[in-house]
Amino acid sequence: MFHRVLEAAALAEGACEVVTIERKRWLVVWPTGGEPKAFRALCPHDESSLVEATFDGREMTCPHHRWRFDGTTGACVSGQKCAPVKQYDLKIEDGAIFVDVPEKVKKRLREG
Ligand code: FES
Repeated sequence: MFHRVLEAAALAEGACEVVTIERKRWLVVWPTGGEPKAFRALCPHDESSLVEATFDGREMTCPHHRWRFDGTTGACVSGQKCAPVKQYDLKIEDGAIFVDVPEKVKKRLREG
């Protein structure tokens, strides 16, 4: 199910915005020269929050141990080998950004 999270005009190319769905945080990033992407704001290193992550237009940097993740794929590009930051489908419609969080994920979030 897609959730309206942000006015499209509120996200600048090369920037990152933190949004809330089901009382959990997601990152909506727009990599420079690419398309906006949505990621769960949890670091795959140890599930710490990425709400305070920095984004330089290309990579997200975790504030905890400074590992960096590709803003297009979520893949870890520094630090130790790990899973990518979880990515969710995103669409832009009627001037707004929507993020798709499947029902099974929402159920898990409510229970967790
Ligand atoms: S918790 Fe993100 S790099 Fe360690």
